[in-house]
Amino acid sequence: MLKRSLTMCVACVPLLLVFGCPTLPATCSSDTDCTGSNGVCSNGTCVECATDADCSSGQVCSASNTCVDCNTDADCATDEVCTSGTCGAASGGVDPVAGESFYTANGCIACHAADGSGGVGPNIQDETSAEIFARLSGAASHPVTVSGVTTEDTDNVAAWLNSL
Ligand code: HEC
Repeated sequence: MLKRSLTMCVACVPLLLVFGCPTLPATCSSDTDCTGSNGVCSNGTCVECATDADCSSGQVCSASNTCVDCNTDADCATDEVCTSGTCGAASGGVDPVAGESFYTANGCIACHAADGSGGVGPNIQDETSAEIFARLSGAASHPVTVSGVTTEDTDNVAAWLNSL
């Protein structure tokens, strides 16, 4: 084992010189090769978890094989949202000002007018957040989608449109 590590290390030297120090993940063929907090062998690499069952109760396994409180809002209490793996209170409710900014920044004005009253596209002043989300996420037919759109964005847009 020591000899193998040394050989690997020698092989690393030119790489180190050229690219700086690469972080080599510990390799494994089964969980017994892994120790400490990264005690699970997944696809040849020691990681914290491969499935939710590897995490303590109440936690879930993230896409990057770490135990986190949540991957989606559904993993949190009903009135909480999931942000970067942590459950927390939804941030201060809806924000119509942010909604108007989103509407302007994403070019909705070109087809639905500055006040949502319509033009190329229909009047959308009375649309719900769910309807807007469906259109912008591509779930329902719409000429444009907004990459990375969240229900928080569409809650804000709906709040602003509905106030007009
Ligand atoms: C290129 C023109 C265009 C742009 C830009 C555009 N839309 Fe639309 N939108 C349309 C058209 C056309 C429809 C009708 C599509 C249909 O029903 O198949 C529509 C439909 C919708 C609907 C459904 C309306 C209904 O009556 O059910 C919503 C909600 C909506 N758009 C929101 C938005 C938002 C928010 C933006 C900005 C991110 C946006 N649209 C940008 C053209 C556009």
